[in-house]
Amino acid sequence: MLSVTSGAQRRAGKVLIVDDNVDLVSQLSAVLLAPASDSAPLSVVTAARGAEALVLAKREGFDVAIVDVKLPDVSGIDLIAQLKDACPFSEVVLITGFASVDAAISALRSGAFAFTLKSFRPEELISTVQQALMKVQLKVERRSLEKRAADAEALSAMGALALNLAHEIRNPLNAAVLQLHLLDRGVDKLECDRDTKDALKKRAAIVGDEIGRLSRLLTEFLELARPRALGREPVHVARLVADVLDLYRETADARGIAIIRDLAADGTTLLGDAEKLKQVVLNLVVNAMEAMKQGGTLSVRVASEADRVEISVSDTGSGIPPEAIEHVFDPFFTTKEAGTGLGLSIVRKIVDQHGGEIRIETEPGRGAHVRVAIPSGK
Ligand SMILES: Nc1ncnc2c1ncn2[C@@H]1O[C@H](COP(=O)(O)OP(=O)(O)O)[C@@H](O)[C@H]1O
Ligand SMILES: [Mg+2]
Repeated sequence: MLSVTSGAQRRAGKVLIVDDNVDLVSQLSAVLLAPASDSAPLSVVTAARGAEALVLAKREGFDVAIVDVKLPDVSGIDLIAQLKDACPFSEVVLITGFASVDAAISALRSGAFAFTLKSFRPEELISTVQQALMKVQLKVERRSLEKRAADAEALSAMGALALNLAHEIRNPLNAAVLQLHLLDRGVDKLECDRDTKDALKKRAAIVGDEIGRLSRLLTEFLELARPRALGREPVHVARLVADVLDLYRETADARGIAIIRDLAADGTTLLGDAEKLKQVVLNLVVNAMEAMKQGGTLSVRVASEADRVEISVSDTGSGIPPEAIEHVFDPFFTTKEAGTGLGLSIVRKIVDQHGGEIRIETEPGRGAHVRVAIPSGK
């Protein structure tokens, strides 16, 4: 299962324990898995040897590794750099039976987060792991913020000039659509054989499709780049979603897509911008349907939970390939021949403006599940 979220989020930390002492490993796991009220739950994976740890790290990733200095196949100190290579944002805590100053120094020099004695007290270990996790979380958050800032900067650098240009393109484009329409009618009236007429009309239709695509790109670009104040009125989300689904019922039927609705009867009203939220749902529904070329099931759910309204859209389509998942929110990123790559950027912008969050989970080949949570703002 792959996943990506629109913003940096607190998530459960994943701890990798690398030690060949079975008793110690199970004791450590027990300590780490014991529920602590004030912190996020941890998950634990274990390995007895360095080589095994590296395979696990590459396959599943981890946040903090607790590594014995003396392993059967390698020195824990040498393992640090390799583990960090496998998971760039991770931290490593070394543990040892006997502390020597030399060992401690070389551990810290090799980039260990901490160096701890095996005779640790549980609370000491937990606190060290929590500190390391905090550091990992901060690194991840920083990267995500840097990326967001770069995206925003890129858009505002295009700024006014691009906005004007987009507006300027709109007029000739509208004129072209009109002329094309007249051309098409003119062809109907031509006195020539059927084949020639069909060939001409086919050309005109291709030009029409291309103009349509340009026009869609413009609309979406303007939506993304134009600064516009957010409306703040009561929006009945379940009803809004039902309206969008009604729009797509026929298309869905035609493509062999079943729509399952689970829309809460009430409690899903929030303060926000109805038009923009409609755009969010529309973009998600369109993406889901575009991913189900061979038909499938589109499930849409709206529910209220505490002070948020959650909209969930899932499909049984192609899913998102691992190399694409990190980029789906990037402006202009698309894997579709006629895509604009702006749909999810717009979704993210609108959800951000409402103070909400997006999470996408996907299993390549089996579908994608997008969840949007928006504070009800009351
Ligand atoms: N439900 C989905 N299933 C599979 N892939 C998806 C889904 N939603 C988004 N994607 C991926 O994210 C990319 C970006 O989506 P989007 O920003 O809406 O642009 P576009 O739809 O124009 O390609 C898509 O090209 C596709 O690769
Ligand atoms: Mg899209």
